[in-house]
Amino acid sequence: MDFRHQNMNKLYHLIKTSEIPLKVIEEIFEKAEWFERELQRGRRDFNNLKGATVCSLFYEESTRTRFSFEKAIHNLGGNVISTEAAAQFSSAHKGESLEHTIKIISGKALSHLRYADIIILRHPEKGAAEKAAKVSGVPIINAGDGSGEHPTQALLDAYAFKRFLGRLSHFSICFVGDLKFSRVIGSDAILLSQYPGIKMFFVAPKGFEIKEELKSYLRQKGVEFKETDDIKKVVCQSDIAYIVRVQKNRISDRNLLQTYQQNKDNYAVTKEVYEMSEKKGTLFCHPMPVDEKEKEIRPEVENLPRIKMFEQAGYGVPIRMAVLELIWRNLTDKK
Ligand code: CP
Repeated sequence: MDFRHQNMNKLYHLIKTSEIPLKVIEEIFEKAEWFERELQRGRRDFNNLKGATVCSLFYEESTRTRFSFEKAIHNLGGNVISTEAAAQFSSAHKGESLEHTIKIISGKALSHLRYADIIILRHPEKGAAEKAAKVSGVPIINAGDGSGEHPTQALLDAYAFKRFLGRLSHFSICFVGDLKFSRVIGSDAILLSQYPGIKMFFVAPKGFEIKEELKSYLRQKGVEFKETDDIKKVVCQSDIAYIVRVQKNRISDRNLLQTYQQNKDNYAVTKEVYEMSEKKGTLFCHPMPVDEKEKEIRPEVENLPRIKMFEQAGYGVPIRMAVLELIWRNLTDKK
């Protein structure tokens, strides 16, 4: 995030979770709750983005992030311009750089003729959103940059935890699976570190552990955390178990992937794991997609009541409405 209007504490770009102040997170949650209540009542005539055009620029595949952002824009009365596979269907395929694409869409040269007022960017390279923000004439929302960050996923996850537990402090969470290549784990842990009393367990096989950088960040924030290698060792102490898939699209070392696959039962929600956590009442979340081949949430448990991933994904709509509304309000207030 970039506070261009620092004195006014205003959100402009949304790039990294660590840059979102607690005050802004709380403002987003409050607004999302309001949007959710209104949507539940059947209201569809929000005009908060009236007159705004938002570009959904996805260089990497997506189901939830792109559709929930686009639904959020429609709900708010804004316009969407979009490409679902920018690497293939934009001029990136002809060799155009990300910087040139962003300069064009954001009207860097002629701001009154810009194509879009906000750009939502998903890109396979870590740091791509930051690179885009440096040359953009309009706010950039990072919708996932390689193994880097996914800040709106962290916002929707924290919002979901709050809805599920009734609080966003004093609980325990285990993050399970490929923690090294997942961009969501870092973003979630960083956001949760802003709240008191959240104990974290990180469960991953050798070679897939959380990055040193994240460990130092959590230590600096005084977060209590432990690392282990089997979900069964910590699930009964966890209010939330947050599972992630193995990020095959980011792993070039076949031996490393094989190690994961040989031990995948240690990182999956099996019937045994579900049943052993019955007493604690552990809720199982997952950012999705679930890998149909690896089955980190086993099909025999996926429709049981404590598997919350489908509800969790739904919260993407009100959260993304709140983020867009806030950014657009800040832009138009300035005028
Ligand atoms: N959770 C998430 O980012 O899903 P998509 O990749 O489908 O957008």
